[in-house]
Amino acid sequence: MFEKNGPEIAAVIVEPIAGNMGVIPGTQEFLDTLRQLTTDAGSLLIFDEVMSGFRAAYHGAQSLYHIKPDLTTLGKVVGGGLPVGVFGGRRDIMEHITPDGSVYHAGTLSGNPLAMTGGLSTLNQLNDNLYKNMTAKTTRLVEGIKAAADAHDVPITVHHVGTMWSYFFNGGDVNNFADVQASDVAYFAKFFKQLLQQGIYTAPSQFETNFMSSKHTTQDIDDTIQAFNDAFDAVNNG
Ligand SMILES: Cc1ncc(COP(=O)(O)O)c(C=O)c1O
Repeated sequence: MFEKNGPEIAAVIVEPIAGNMGVIPGTQEFLDTLRQLTTDAGSLLIFDEVMSGFRAAYHGAQSLYHIKPDLTTLGKVVGGGLPVGVFGGRRDIMEHITPDGSVYHAGTLSGNPLAMTGGLSTLNQLNDNLYKNMTAKTTRLVEGIKAAADAHDVPITVHHVGTMWSYFFNGGDVNNFADVQASDVAYFAKFFKQLLQQGIYTAPSQFETNFMSSKHTTQDIDDTIQAFNDAFDAVNNG
């Protein structure tokens, strides 16, 4: 595509860590290649970190891959629970936006003071230590889930990056959308309902992501692992 049409491609936008098909981290090679191709062609590389921003890592997925995109989009966590969308990046690009440049950008809720305050208050509480902590909790949880599935002979693949995690009822590698589609969604549907009966509400689709928060306790995690065990029992014996 780039070999033929490179100069005509304005931009490539990508979730570096996909969250909209469960968690599928892009490979280093894939993202390095995108960076190289876009740079060579004079196209922009835009990282959609709406989901991975302030979740995969304190400084986003781009800090994990050591790749600097030309622009980044953010949402969700950056609003501290209030609805906010953010985009930013290279100064020479951002200077095209008003008031510095000629590209007019405005909206009813742009710069909304309440949302800005909510977001700022959240961001002010984040730090590297918190992420270390949340990542350790995520690891404890997904290892427990994997062990529970193994103990019940249920093929599973569990992915996690930082606070993002998801489980696929698929015993093979899950590296792309086709792999996710090959998961046992019928088992997922039954399992999800059983888990809900145990009081644990994970994302209701095989194609969604779950998130650890700073408020989850070790007890919450261990209770969740127990609920997974009980739900596997119920589905397998039901
Ligand atoms: C990764 C990602 N990008 C973009 C969006 C869409 O954002 P918006 O609804 O502001 O267009 C979402 C929404 O959930 C998302 O998860």
